[in-house]
Amino acid sequence: MNVNGHPYRTIWLKPGDDHIVQVINQVKLPHIFEINDLASVEDVCRAIRDMTVRGAGLIGASAAYGMYLASLESSETGFQDTLRRAGNALKATRPTAANLAWAVDRMLGVIGAVESHSERCSVARQEAIAIADEDADYCRRIGVHAMPVISAISARKPGQTVNILTHCNAGWLAFVDMGSATAPIYAAHDAGIPVHVWVDETRPRNQGASLTAWELSQHGVPHTLIADNAGGHLMQHGLVDMVITGADRVTRNGDVANKIGTYLKALAAHDNRIPMYVALPSSTFDFALRDGVANIPIEERDGAEVRYMTGLTESGDIASVRICPQATPARNWGFDVTPARLITQLICERGLCDATENGILSLFPERR
Ligand code: MRU
Repeated sequence: MNVNGHPYRTIWLKPGDDHIVQVINQVKLPHIFEINDLASVEDVCRAIRDMTVRGAGLIGASAAYGMYLASLESSETGFQDTLRRAGNALKATRPTAANLAWAVDRMLGVIGAVESHSERCSVARQEAIAIADEDADYCRRIGVHAMPVISAISARKPGQTVNILTHCNAGWLAFVDMGSATAPIYAAHDAGIPVHVWVDETRPRNQGASLTAWELSQHGVPHTLIADNAGGHLMQHGLVDMVITGADRVTRNGDVANKIGTYLKALAAHDNRIPMYVALPSSTFDFALRDGVANIPIEERDGAEVRYMTGLTESGDIASVRICPQATPARNWGFDVTPARLITQLICERGLCDATENGILSLFPERR
């Protein structure tokens, strides 16, 4: 996607020095566009943990590049231990997004048995690039598959705008390019279908306000920022035609873990008979799990993220302010689980399917 007219992905190897991975620092957006160098597995772990990089697809791609850096750090002997330790460290950074362990295991499967150091590094480099390219391509395909859904809604209200509500950031910043929830929006907008996006601010870290609003602006997609709790009201008044969110982990029967608050949007959409779509690449499925509420690990983050808000001051500095009494404690769950029954359909790189085991396996028969 473009930033100030220049094409960017969210992660790449530094031109002229492919021992360095470069990423956009998402903690500083939308106020500062900064590119960070990651030179070690520890750098990658820190970037995932502090959310310099975030979003399921990008966490996976970052872990893949982290394993490439681990292969550079490995020696001829004992390299399997080095890779295993790196994989464990990366997997421990954040618990909910399925893409993280998926990417580490895929890298280990490809490079774990390569004896020669130089061959191992070259294979790891190729595989990390392949994972990143695949992520971008899968998001593009999600957009292609979902376009007919948006154009059908548009056809039912000729001359009017299709209003789409999204939560958090499942945009290109959360992946390598395009995004999952946003790929259909970009595809429809580029095809000339009038779309408008209601952007949930997404407390506590405000990925909607800071990231989704920023990337939609960069692409010229009409959008409006709303408070997290506004969605139900808009739905009751006919101002939302569809909801599209991303996902961090989806069970084999279609339960969806996504940013905290998604469940409430799904309940409101269900009550108002508004279609609720969840877009994801196959790397987000966890085919080993059936009961999302019981079994998906939900990250609990520092309560300080709830107690404080960060933004740009009038003088142009980025600052944090406390929004509650000094002694008030806070709890901060990062994700919730939307039961499959509340989801109209899943949108994957292979097409659309019902959020049921049969529906999902019809697209992924090799998982039967
Ligand atoms: O905590 P984050 O920002 O890494 O959370 C991930 C998300 O942005 C959302 O849950 C998103 O909708 C799914 S990630 C593609």
